[in-house]
Amino acid sequence: MSNNIVIAIDGYSSCGKSTLAKALARQLHFIYIDSGAMYRAVTLYFLREKINLHDRSAVGQALKNIHLNFNARDYQSHITLNEEEVSDEIRQMPVSDNVSAVAAIKEVRHEMVRQQQRMGRSKNIVMDGRDIGTTVFPDAQLKIFMTADPNVRAERRYKELAAKDPQITLEDVFENIAHRDYQDTTREESPLVRAKDAIILDNTNLSPDEQLQFALDKLNDLLEP
Ligand code: DC
Repeated sequence: MSNNIVIAIDGYSSCGKSTLAKALARQLHFIYIDSGAMYRAVTLYFLREKINLHDRSAVGQALKNIHLNFNARDYQSHITLNEEEVSDEIRQMPVSDNVSAVAAIKEVRHEMVRQQQRMGRSKNIVMDGRDIGTTVFPDAQLKIFMTADPNVRAERRYKELAAKDPQITLEDVFENIAHRDYQDTTREESPLVRAKDAIILDNTNLSPDEQLQFALDKLNDLLEP
């Protein structure tokens, strides 16, 4: 039995999960793992190699050729795909438009969950995603389920993306978020659902500092009842 602490943060797309997860990891000196970045890096590989998502054996073979690593620099999610830094490219629209379909593939999920569980076996970690509190770490000490008004989420993500891509419109971003919410919540294999013991955090009107304080208070309550 190991005594490491796992904080699981799940929720809808563009809800600020990674902002909160990074802030918690920095404050607590935990390791931050962005599980969405793993699905995005797999998607980038599949797009580059033109893998047919319906071809089970091609998917299985591709997964064997994918090596993902996080560079734990400054509590950010710098991820490498076969030793190439892909952190920026995995945030661009081609990957965002295809990632939900890739993340719905059973073989992909099994491999990612296996890798995520290995990362959290003996270390204090904060991991964010969609199925962390339900499937990856059902015994996590603290589970937070994040949500926010979809319009507010689209505006926040639009500001981030428009700085890098002036062509992008708020409508594109809103549609992408709505589409991903739909796919993430209706897929067969571990859909996005709140774990029964997860605490809901609606951050529509909360600043990042208020969210951090909320999570730290909950963790203190749990560890020192
Ligand atoms: O958190 P994100 O937007 O970077 O995640 C990208 C996609 O990956 C998202 O549409 C759903 C999927 N995902 C998942 O299915 N399970 C996770 N644990 C994390 C992400």
